[in-house]
Amino acid sequence: MLGTGYLGATHAVCMASLGFDVLGLDVDPAKIARLSNGEVPFYEPGLEPLLRKTLASGRLRFTTSYEEVAEFGDVHFLCVGTPQKDNEYAADLDYVYTAVTTLAPLLTRPCTFAGKSTVPVGTAERIASRIAASAPAGDDVEVVWNPEFLREGFAVDDTLHPDRLVFGVDSQRGEQAMREAFAPVIAGGTPVVVTDLATAQLVKVAANAFLATKISFINAMAEVCEATHADVTKLSEALSHDSRIGGRFLHAGLGFGGGCLPKDIRAFMARAGELGVDQALTFLTEVDAINLRRRARMVDLARELLDDTMAHRRIAILGAAFKPNSDDIRDSPALDVATRLHHAGADVVVYDPAAMDNARIRYPDLTYAASTLEAAHGAHLVLLLTEWLEFREADPAVLAEVVAAPNIVDGRNALDPDRWRAAGWTYRALGRP
Ligand code: UDX
Repeated sequence: MLGTGYLGATHAVCMASLGFDVLGLDVDPAKIARLSNGEVPFYEPGLEPLLRKTLASGRLRFTTSYEEVAEFGDVHFLCVGTPQKDNEYAADLDYVYTAVTTLAPLLTRPCTFAGKSTVPVGTAERIASRIAASAPAGDDVEVVWNPEFLREGFAVDDTLHPDRLVFGVDSQRGEQAMREAFAPVIAGGTPVVVTDLATAQLVKVAANAFLATKISFINAMAEVCEATHADVTKLSEALSHDSRIGGRFLHAGLGFGGGCLPKDIRAFMARAGELGVDQALTFLTEVDAINLRRRARMVDLARELLDDTMAHRRIAILGAAFKPNSDDIRDSPALDVATRLHHAGADVVVYDPAAMDNARIRYPDLTYAASTLEAAHGAHLVLLLTEWLEFREADPAVLAEVVAAPNIVDGRNALDPDRWRAAGWTYRALGRP
């Protein structure tokens, strides 16, 4: 595995658990030391016990040496990150090309190079020509594309039991290598879709564009509901019974964040522009805009509940991670709202069950509390921005006793309005009367 971030570390552990010999590479020695020690450097339920088990089995090791990797691998999985470029929509491919140009000259024996990173379509073909030009093994290095669809919080299960496997190949040999590498998963009944390289790269961004569109669709309906005193949660429930529509990713609220959906739709638009088909994806501009408008709406609602006065008003923010069961704060809607309120002059106090360390490093100006109760203490307003179970199950009567004023905005439509109102709270939510 080239890269041991979210994707690479999970994939390394899971492949070792399936019985393969795995070597994980990263350029960050601190990360390698922690992983070698049985410690997962991020929050992912179920991953650490499996890491320890596979390390103990002797089938999994980590290294910082490309030479060792080149010598070791029959299949090299590219798992490095492709973040959004600064001040641009396009994906930053520096990590991808650094990995390729470092590894390629060391590849002296037949092997498969399988891309998993989410990349702009056309990258696999460019990687293939770079490898063909600089690998001593030349044509004996087969380049294939194998996009990854794992969700944070469910990464192990998504890797071991994916909805589908996609193999982008341009030869029989490439398909065979992938079928061997995933034999135990395929034997478990996972469907396989074999495509060309371009289609395989597109499947990943198309999937994320569709999911983002579905979320923004229901959030657009929430805007309309707000103007008509309708209830988007009931609207969504009624839509979900139509099996053509389905209820997943139709949950209205503060919208999507994280390390994938936002940057992937932007990179997709940037690539479409280069390909001269930007019109095909202009709707994604709207998907992005709807998503960001939810954050502005949350700030407006907060202002409304505080009678337009932010100064010296204490706001408890419940949630910092971009979604529950994660400590990932990349493009977190919760922290975006917290920052906007902080800049507007409010005293913002943030609590999250898992993402506090990451939030403190990235947002040192915000104030942090050690529990829901501590955050709520003396607050004039409580905002639920990430729907952790702990917040869903919070007792409104207990919280009402510690706040300065019982005002709550449910940014994820995760609470029972009747229960909170019965406990004396002014309850507001996105897309509901
Ligand atoms: C996503 C894709 O689901 C995954 O297939 C891909 O490999 C990586 O990107 P992830 O970023 O882990 O995974 O998060 P996901 O569970 O998809 O949630 C994305 C965001 O959408 C979160 O901020 C979540 O709160 C939000 N969301 C999700 C909604 O606002 N409403 C919904 O109905 C569903």
